[in-house]
Amino acid sequence: NGKYTVTLIPGDGIGPEISESIKNIYTAAQVPIQWEEVSVTPVLKGGKTVIPDSAIQSVKRNTVALKGPLATPIGKGHVSLNLTLRRTFNLFANVRPCVSIKGFKTPYEDVNTVLIRENTEGEYSGIEHEVIDGVVQSIKLITWDASERVARYAFHYAQSQGRKRVTAVHKANIMKMSDGMFLSACREVSKEFPDIAYDEDLLDRVCLQASNCGNNVVQNPRPYSDRVMVMPNLYGDILSDMCAGLIGGLGLTPSGNIGRDASIFEAVHGSAPDIAGEQGARQPYGALAVIYDDVEVSMSLSESSSSIDSIDRHMNLNQYAEKIEKAALTTIAEGKTITGDLGGKSSTKEYTNAIIEKLA
Ligand code: IPM
Ligand code: MN
Repeated sequence: NGKYTVTLIPGDGIGPEISESIKNIYTAAQVPIQWEEVSVTPVLKGGKTVIPDSAIQSVKRNTVALKGPLATPIGKGHVSLNLTLRRTFNLFANVRPCVSIKGFKTPYEDVNTVLIRENTEGEYSGIEHEVIDGVVQSIKLITWDASERVARYAFHYAQSQGRKRVTAVHKANIMKMSDGMFLSACREVSKEFPDIAYDEDLLDRVCLQASNCGNNVVQNPRPYSDRVMVMPNLYGDILSDMCAGLIGGLGLTPSGNIGRDASIFEAVHGSAPDIAGEQGARQPYGALAVIYDDVEVSMSLSESSSSIDSIDRHMNLNQYAEKIEKAALTTIAEGKTITGDLGGKSSTKEYTNAIIEKLA
């Protein structure tokens, strides 16, 4: 019955519970989309483990997907499925807004920034080998094209969102060639956007500054509000977790993997297999994830979440996004039906139902 079809990848651990909640919330908000549920659990094909073709075809066909967390093995095992998806669909920009939630108290008020992370290369190139016994090499791959592409996306995003500045975050004092070239690409692109201010800052300094950006307005006037930060892959991974911490946790930050031909939206948190299936107050992550995913859902529905073309071309469902976002944020601000991770005692279901009541 939906006007749009969106691929749903339920994911591992708490993923299926989260997906269930999202589906119920969407139904309650009468969002005109239908889900096409696929599994990305790797299958054996010609001696290689690959993502099932049915999943790939689904994302290609629908061009928009919502993804639950996927477990990523540490140290050994298969290449992260998250990475495989990003690479398969060339999702070159990862957009992670980090905005304080009104009514939800943290030591840091008025955080309002957006991180845009290069999403296909850097330390995530997956090129590693043992040089000799006891010496290994992992290649950080930086290309001009990918740097330029993500920089241009960041400027477009800033422009369409009314953000006045783009800051390129780097360690070009150490990585003189790779980060140096990333910066050159950003500088070149900045010339195309005379209305947007451009500057550069060292990653470690940004961490210090951002973590001081709380209430002390005199010393630190919310240095990262009203801007977009753009950076290589691994820096974006780390800094986005840090910024998520400023607003109350990983689950409160949505994440959009944006490509030309497809976009995949996700929460930033992991699959938390240890608490999957539990209900009640002792289920911090799962329940919180629903909250996150509501914000994320809003992001995936929102035309403005992607300045280039992927989402607005397909969806333009802002009114639904705003409704859902408002219901979720009000639920959090009221604080009656929130989950353990946010200091409450409610289960995923109770949280979901509280949102649904507000949508009615
Ligand atoms: C993220 C995650 C992934 C990453 C993992 C799960 C591969 O931490 O989306 O930030 O490192 O990019
Ligand atoms: Mn991460």
